[in-house]
Amino acid sequence: MTLPKRAIAARFLPDRYRYWYSLSKLAMDPLYDAVPGAFRNQSEPVLDLGCGIGLLLHCLRASGRQLPYIGVDTDAVKIEAARAASAVGCHDDAKFQVCDLSVQFPEHRGSVALLDVLQYLPRQAQGTLLSQAAECVSKEGQLVIRTGLADGTWRSAMTRVTDRFGHWVGWMKTSFKAQPSAQELRAGLRRHGLQAEFQPLWGRTPFNNWLVVARRA
Ligand SMILES: C[S@@+](CC[C@H](N)C(=O)[O-])C[C@H]1O[C@@H](n2cnc3c(N)ncnc32)[C@H](O)[C@@H]1O
Repeated sequence: MTLPKRAIAARFLPDRYRYWYSLSKLAMDPLYDAVPGAFRNQSEPVLDLGCGIGLLLHCLRASGRQLPYIGVDTDAVKIEAARAASAVGCHDDAKFQVCDLSVQFPEHRGSVALLDVLQYLPRQAQGTLLSQAAECVSKEGQLVIRTGLADGTWRSAMTRVTDRFGHWVGWMKTSFKAQPSAQELRAGLRRHGLQAEFQPLWGRTPFNNWLVVARRA
């Protein structure tokens, strides 16, 4: 199904910056079409780690996925914007909380989304967050990750440069720390009984972005 991109972006008005940011993300990044597809036939509640302004919620609901949703992010301003847009979209059952994942982790059982967040954490904290996320995944749930991968390709280098640039120009408060490798991710998830499938998710972008869906083996 085609996402109602303009209608979703309009929920962030009168903030024109967030309107254009959302519209361009929804139009150019294949993430928001792909992730609702990954939640097809799922009914477990979703914990969205590093949810930003909560675009995933709008895409899930527009795709007919009425899963219980809670989004957490360390950026209180984004959480406020996420709450306001969620109310405009009449997603009154969705919850958003401010939470610094390097300090605390919300209690949860079901599915987890971790989209474009790992790279902002130091390597050791990435491992801790992955373990915490994996432990939440129920028998019927899944862990859906979108991340750049360190694999020595030009796409990998391009992704690192752009993440650093995003921090430098102020798009991201947190700075780029490290890219995981596919081997590290796979092994870390296997330690928690999860089997991961990887698929490229760069669409027409120059980035080395991958979608990883991990389920109980
Ligand atoms: C590139 S954005 C991705 C937003 C959202 N997941 C999406 O894909 O639309 C990365 C998000 O991670 C959040 N983040 C970074 N470090 C975090 C931390 N320690 N705890 C919680 N959120 C964090 C940032 O505030 C930001 O909103």
